[in-house]
Amino acid sequence: MVKMLKKGLSGVLSDKEINEVYSAFDIIGDIVIIKIPETMKDKKELIGESIISNVKPVRTVLMQSSPVQGDFRVRGVEYIAGENKTTTIYKEHNCKFKVDVSKVYFSPRLSTERDRIANLVNDDEVIVNMFAGIGTFSVVIAKKHRCKIYNIDINPDAYYLCNENIKLNKINECIIPILGDAKEVIEKKLKNKADRVLMPLPEKAAEYLEHAIMSTKNRGIIHYFTHVHSNSKKESMKICADELVNNMSVKYELLASRVVRAVGPRFYQVVADVRVFKN
Ligand SMILES: C[S@@+](CC[C@H](N)C(=O)[O-])C[C@H]1O[C@@H](n2cnc3c(N)ncnc32)[C@H](O)[C@@H]1O
Repeated sequence: MVKMLKKGLSGVLSDKEINEVYSAFDIIGDIVIIKIPETMKDKKELIGESIISNVKPVRTVLMQSSPVQGDFRVRGVEYIAGENKTTTIYKEHNCKFKVDVSKVYFSPRLSTERDRIANLVNDDEVIVNMFAGIGTFSVVIAKKHRCKIYNIDINPDAYYLCNENIKLNKINECIIPILGDAKEVIEKKLKNKADRVLMPLPEKAAEYLEHAIMSTKNRGIIHYFTHVHSNSKKESMKICADELVNNMSVKYELLASRVVRAVGPRFYQVVADVRVFKN
């Protein structure tokens, strides 16, 4: 698909321009979202048409018009070619996801991380996914394991799509979608409940850590995602570990940490897996 996309642009852009566009696109189901630099904006329709004619599975091309922003972490998109729509079905790890890219957060770039966490889960675990979106991590886990997952999100569109994705993947009994603020939900009904807590919102990691701990049982595990400015991947994991030392209010053991992806120049998303001791 990536090769087709490159080939499709070769009649419209120079090699240098192709490389710029090529390093900044997402394929989500049959929708392509591309970032077009200011200098190429006058060619956006040509770029869009060329992708539609050359990359067969793609039906819609959208241009990213703003970075991921706001509490709901949604990026702005502008239609440029093909069918004018923002909803698609995305498939990974034997799961299907209905996604509206204009209303909810979604990133195909977290696919490996979703699979990694699903492979750590044991049957019969109780899991609290604090920033669960349309249920991406939760569905991948529930497809592999018999468990109970509280899927919290504050965005009503994400809550709606999570319900749709539960039906689509026929896993009704495993996932409990909850619309609301993770802190409030945990305080009201999820204290000391979880064998595992997921925190896939790096921007609020430190601010919500106390509530992740509150929700975890003794010896439960927290997957703490954070963003780190650093000169190297190795150093970014050390900085993440230091962040935990400064913010953890209970005894803990750092089980593992890894760089999930680079999110900018010398800027990384890092995850730490932490076992919490409450006694
Ligand atoms: C970066 S997205 C991750 C979504 C999902 N886990 C995924 O990987 O596709 C973070 C999500 O947290 C939600 N969110 C933001 N603040 C929240 C809060 N206080 N409580 C619950 N959810 C929140 C947003 O609506 C968004 O869907």
